[in-house]
Amino acid sequence: MKRIGVLTSGGDAPGMNAAIRAVVRTAIDRGVEVFGVRQGYQGLIDGLFTPMGARDVGGIIQRGGTILGSARSLEFKTPEGQRKALRALNQAGVEGLVVIGGNGSQTGANALHQLGFPVVGVASTIDNDLFGSDITIGVDTALNIALEAIDRLKITASSHQRAFLLEVMGRDCGYLALMSAIAGGAEAVVIPEVETEPEHVADVIREAYEKGKAHAIVVVAEGAKYNAAKLDAYFTEHQDRLGFALRTAILGHIQRGGNPGAFDRILASRLGAGAVESLLEGQYGVLNGWVRSELTRTPLETVVASKKPLDLTLFKLAQILD
Ligand code: F6P
Repeated sequence: MKRIGVLTSGGDAPGMNAAIRAVVRTAIDRGVEVFGVRQGYQGLIDGLFTPMGARDVGGIIQRGGTILGSARSLEFKTPEGQRKALRALNQAGVEGLVVIGGNGSQTGANALHQLGFPVVGVASTIDNDLFGSDITIGVDTALNIALEAIDRLKITASSHQRAFLLEVMGRDCGYLALMSAIAGGAEAVVIPEVETEPEHVADVIREAYEKGKAHAIVVVAEGAKYNAAKLDAYFTEHQDRLGFALRTAILGHIQRGGNPGAFDRILASRLGAGAVESLLEGQYGVLNGWVRSELTRTPLETVVASKKPLDLTLFKLAQILD
């Protein structure tokens, strides 16, 4: 294999740049040329290829986001879009592709693999909902941003004797909410995996108030049945149940835009380098992930067909420790 491509797709995640850097420099070290593909799968269809040298990825390891840009391409989901992408790859003489991203991105990678193109994935999403990697690139940094928000909210909540709902990202997965609730010592956490009624959350807040706590923090996953907006609406109707006055904060994309911490930079460097090695070893159609502290390769077919379970003993732990 003499020329490979690399793209980032789906939601950006802190550490994607470190992964791009690792792909480019590992490939160059092995005598392989690299083309960066801009704007994810849409760029693949449109032939947005740029040759990348070692210096093109200088000074990016500490930067969040992705220098290649990302997109959620609807066209690539169609057979015609996939055919166009294959044509563009062949025309550019690209013989293998590294796809850095989460579930949607690896579904796209699997589609190319099924069409016979040599492709490998790198596990990257802040949601940590990707099967085949215990932890994905971006999670640790996003978690620390959520944690900082909790710590800050606690300060202002205590000053005003308030309860706060903090909604964090994670799509349909409660990992970020649960882990930030444990690390931040929140009074309650609401996640999609465990059905929680607003009455129960109200009871927890009331209990904190009656115990004489200065505040109550509830971390809510955006994918929960009762997300922050729904809980807020319910509590506005039932303000008397809480004791505390209530405010709501939604972290949203702030959580995704940070510069990567050490963990994500190192994870991304290992997975990016591992992806190039798998292409050169002829191990195609696999996701490079991190399982039990080791680099692993899981078939993309398995990755996209499986749901990653959330360890619910941690939900119990959060309840015990609040
Ligand atoms: O998958 C990453 C993620 O940030 C999710 O947590 C969130 O639900 C979604 O992307 C938001 O997508 P967009 O950036 O397209 O609004």
